[in-house]
Amino acid sequence: MNEIKKGMNEEEIENYVKEVLEHMSLKEKVYQMIGNGLILKVLKDRGVGRRVYDGAGSKKFKIPSFKFTDGPRGVVIPGSTCFPVSIARGASWDVNLEQNIGNVIGKEVRAHGGNLFGGVCINLLRHPSWGRAQETYGEDPFLIGEFGAALTRGVQKHNVMATAKHFAANSIETARFKVNVKIDERTLREVYLPHFKRCVEEGCVTIMTAYNKVRGEYCGHNKYLLRNILKSDWNFQGFVHSDWMRGVKSTMGGITGGLDVEMPRAKYYKYRKVKKALQQGNISQAMIDEAAGRVMRTILHYVTKEDPQTYEPALIGCEEHCKIALEAAEKSMVLLKNEQNILPLNKNKIKRMAIFGRLAIIKNTGDHGSSNVSTKYVITPLKGIQNYLGDSIQILYNEGSDKESVKSVAKEVDAAILIVGLDHKDEGEFIRELKIGGDRENLSLHDNEIELIKLVASENQNCVVVLIGGSAIIMEEWKDQVPVILMAWYSGMEGGNALARIIFGDVNPGGKLPFTIPKDPNHLPFFDKDADEIEYGYYHGYTLFEKSGFEPAFAFGFGLTYTSFNYNNLQVDVNDEKVLASVEVKNTGKTAGDEIIQLYIGFEQSQIDRPVKLLKGFTRVHLEPNENKHVMIEVSKENLAWYNPNSKSWEVEQITYTLYMGGSSRAKDLLSTQFTL
Ligand code: BGC
Repeated sequence: MNEIKKGMNEEEIENYVKEVLEHMSLKEKVYQMIGNGLILKVLKDRGVGRRVYDGAGSKKFKIPSFKFTDGPRGVVIPGSTCFPVSIARGASWDVNLEQNIGNVIGKEVRAHGGNLFGGVCINLLRHPSWGRAQETYGEDPFLIGEFGAALTRGVQKHNVMATAKHFAANSIETARFKVNVKIDERTLREVYLPHFKRCVEEGCVTIMTAYNKVRGEYCGHNKYLLRNILKSDWNFQGFVHSDWMRGVKSTMGGITGGLDVEMPRAKYYKYRKVKKALQQGNISQAMIDEAAGRVMRTILHYVTKEDPQTYEPALIGCEEHCKIALEAAEKSMVLLKNEQNILPLNKNKIKRMAIFGRLAIIKNTGDHGSSNVSTKYVITPLKGIQNYLGDSIQILYNEGSDKESVKSVAKEVDAAILIVGLDHKDEGEFIRELKIGGDRENLSLHDNEIELIKLVASENQNCVVVLIGGSAIIMEEWKDQVPVILMAWYSGMEGGNALARIIFGDVNPGGKLPFTIPKDPNHLPFFDKDADEIEYGYYHGYTLFEKSGFEPAFAFGFGLTYTSFNYNNLQVDVNDEKVLASVEVKNTGKTAGDEIIQLYIGFEQSQIDRPVKLLKGFTRVHLEPNENKHVMIEVSKENLAWYNPNSKSWEVEQITYTLYMGGSSRAKDLLSTQFTL
């Protein structure tokens, strides 16, 4: 046998794997196809912080094991840096920042001793009730794909394998173990899979299957998804592993379906069971060789690469990493309403202020499922404001349950900040034993918080509502009664500091919504958290609102800042491969700030049923007051294609398209022009 050494090229790795497969016994091959984690360990680790789950590896053949750890809001092993949740990061529309976050995560995974990161969660936010909305980046496949690719780039730079999950159509939590998703071919290819394809193209080397079924077959057994689409159409060379414990239902189902590894331990991929299935002719030797080969090839590819640096434990949760968590929290908050420019508050004019709400004092970084990061510290909203102001202004905290005291405090202060919204009991990964998480039944705030908002707003005109949560919150009942609404998400370990810096104007908020906020839940697609079966249609989010003509409360891509931007001179040019668009953006206000420029393509002249428009490009730029920037965004022609289920191919229509550029998906925020292919 050859030696495994740093710097091996693809061919050498391939030859090594071939040779190993020739010498390995069936038992040794099956060991490559399982995780090594004990079930008790998994349950014990829930909530207490989790460790790394090993694969089996092979000492004899010198194949190191994979060492899995989870995310996405940081590495879930205690002490790690805790970032804002993915949906918040999606609201930053800043893929460079996401790559930096991936970079930090990659370093911390290595410093913890891991080499496989399960936190590239890129399921589509089809409906805001979805309990794990916070773990993904938004409702749009293009946006999700760009973010998933950026996280993958950052993580894999440190020779950590990234796992994109949950493949596929996993957008209901409570019924995740049983629900069957009915979906037509065009919807699957155009809406629910493009972001996975994007991550595979970026080089993401592992895929985790979803628990749910697609078209009657569990995703972990789904030959059509795993073999036809992923491994064949997309030419995916890495390995596929299951979700935890219930992701595989039978030996034959998983292995014929194309699932290479059963996680976190062997239940159906036990040697005895695999051997029997082989003897009965239910699976083939080639399938075993394929699975074991994929695992070994992928691991060798990573362990033989030179590391860009060393990974000391001191890197975990270090100051530099916490600063990136702060930057992410600052860049992701979305200002939804700011009448009379009440924000930023002027600390020289305020003598006393009040902070209301239970959520102001709890460490609320998101759900308590597999993505929970127990970090060194969490700056709560109250702590952040106290840190920022020191003794300069008197701060009164009121939890909000006693109406009389709420009224009297609200009356006597110069500004009132309400911290309201959700926590891990309301939404998140559903863990029945712990009675936490699951899908949301009600998209509004809790009644007591609505009452609190109304009460404070009636007593104080400088009333700022700060929303905490992982997806859309319906606000119709109270939104017209308050002048300021800021979406702050689950903003990670530095969230309270970021909030204070935004409220007092050290930071100009620049985030924009990565989903649509409805006025009425009836405007959304059908959702049933207990469904045995559900149909995912072609339209959801902004494509559904635009097609049906319903007006959202806040549109996809919308967000205010403390300054204003003006768009001018939209130009479009087309060459053989690309559509090249450019626009002038000017900061017309007095404050420096970031603008997120969005590019949409409209399909009015299409011969088939297509969305009114689709996001196809975006960029975030910083502009000083009066500064003007020429912003260029390219769209490859391929990216305009639709999937024709009859010809089973992607087709680019030769028609006139509308190109829109501007600051949100709302018609009034966009300039438009046309081009013809
Ligand atoms: C979740 C996955 C997660 C896994 C391991 C499962 O329950 O669905 O997203 O990666 O646990 O932590």
